[in-house]
Amino acid sequence: MAFLGLFSLLVLHSLATEAMFPDETISEWSVNMYNRLRATGEEENILFSPLSIALAMGMMELGAQGSTLKEIHHSMGYDSLKNGEEFPFLKDFSNMISAEENHYVMKIANSLFIQNGFHVHDEFLQLLKKYFNAEVNHVDFSQNVAVANYINKWVENYTNNLLKELVSPRDFDTVTHLALINAVYFKGNWKSQFRPENTRTFSFTKDDETEVQIPMMYQQGEFYYGEFSDGSNEAGGIYQVLEIPYEGEEISMMLVLSRQEVPLATLEPLVKPQLIEEWASSVKKQKVEVYLPRFTVEQEIDLKDILKALGVTEIFIKDANLTALSDNRELFLSKAIHKSFIEVNEEGSEAAAASGMIAISRMAVLYPQVIVDHPFFFLIRKRRTGTILFMGRVMHPETMNSNGHDFEEL
Ligand SMILES: *[C@@H]1O[C@H](CO)[C@@H](O)[C@H](O)[C@H]1NC(C)=O
Ligand SMILES: *[C@@H]1O[C@H](CO)[C@@H](O)[C@H](O)[C@H]1NC(C)=O
Repeated sequence: MAFLGLFSLLVLHSLATEAMFPDETISEWSVNMYNRLRATGEEENILFSPLSIALAMGMMELGAQGSTLKEIHHSMGYDSLKNGEEFPFLKDFSNMISAEENHYVMKIANSLFIQNGFHVHDEFLQLLKKYFNAEVNHVDFSQNVAVANYINKWVENYTNNLLKELVSPRDFDTVTHLALINAVYFKGNWKSQFRPENTRTFSFTKDDETEVQIPMMYQQGEFYYGEFSDGSNEAGGIYQVLEIPYEGEEISMMLVLSRQEVPLATLEPLVKPQLIEEWASSVKKQKVEVYLPRFTVEQEIDLKDILKALGVTEIFIKDANLTALSDNRELFLSKAIHKSFIEVNEEGSEAAAASGMIAISRMAVLYPQVIVDHPFFFLIRKRRTGTILFMGRVMHPETMNSNGHDFEEL
């Protein structure tokens, strides 16, 4: 009974939050960010975590005042919220997502690394603790190698050793005063797992029409599926959306796939928060045959460039107003970095793989087939709220072979 009570409390709580938290605004800048990344690396894979960026920016925002604060508030899409209202939302958000669950593992950790002897306002520290449950670690940034090592170890610890070398000694010197770090870790098993013995080598056709051999997973099962049109009358205008839930069905991976002959780049400009919502509400549970590559993507992003492009600029210049954080008027943000990693395999996302080379027999096609043998767009999102945990695309999945989880390991 106690368990039941707790459960309904959580549900009520999250329902209340959903009504107000501007998830769609996070989706808005996530899509903008995706488009910036797309413009800088045309043939590259993309991966980032909107959730992690929202939390790191939230911590930074706590220290800002005046026009610097206004700019962050506006650029992060919080215009519909009164000043400061975003913080309780971000807190609920973290609590809700990382609530103890049997179904998936979601860990969120925040920390302030601060130069010994540098004074920050007590109120800032209290708010950091209150809204972000942040640890405070005192360090000596002039010992840049030791500090980088210390911070990297902290990140590794909270990401199950998946993310290494977030920072480098070059990021710090004698004028560094503090670093705010967020780490997010997710591990979910597919509700319906792929059988390793059904995985086999398959060709994947890149947008430049070259082919690579990749390990392709296969299963036939019930998934959320829909076909959509880009509005053109051409045959290539139809694309597929497949939603594969993780255990518990609270979080899912959504895959968007154009026709084989149509480059992903023709589909990408369509992606908008409203369209993502439409996909989510239109896909129907049905039998589908799925061919999905095992893949890993790792990406490091210079978040400073991207944030500036989204309109967060003042915090990066000497005029930054971080007086809520400290009386030091010279304080400004010199760097912003983001790194992410995902491994998708038969069991789910982020898990060791065991795979075979046994051929599958293709049955007569009774159900829609989703054959992900060319570039695709994907999201990992919380289904009920639409919160985007990760967003990315895969242009060439063969990078997984350099990661160690390949056939040789068997
Ligand atoms: C920072 O913003 C606060 C609140 O608007 C303002 O009172 C203060 O003068 C500003 N400080 C600087 C250095 O711009
Ligand atoms: C490592 O992470 C665990 C939780 O995952 C935490 O309890 C522990 O304090 C962390 N250790 C360090 C050194 O941060």
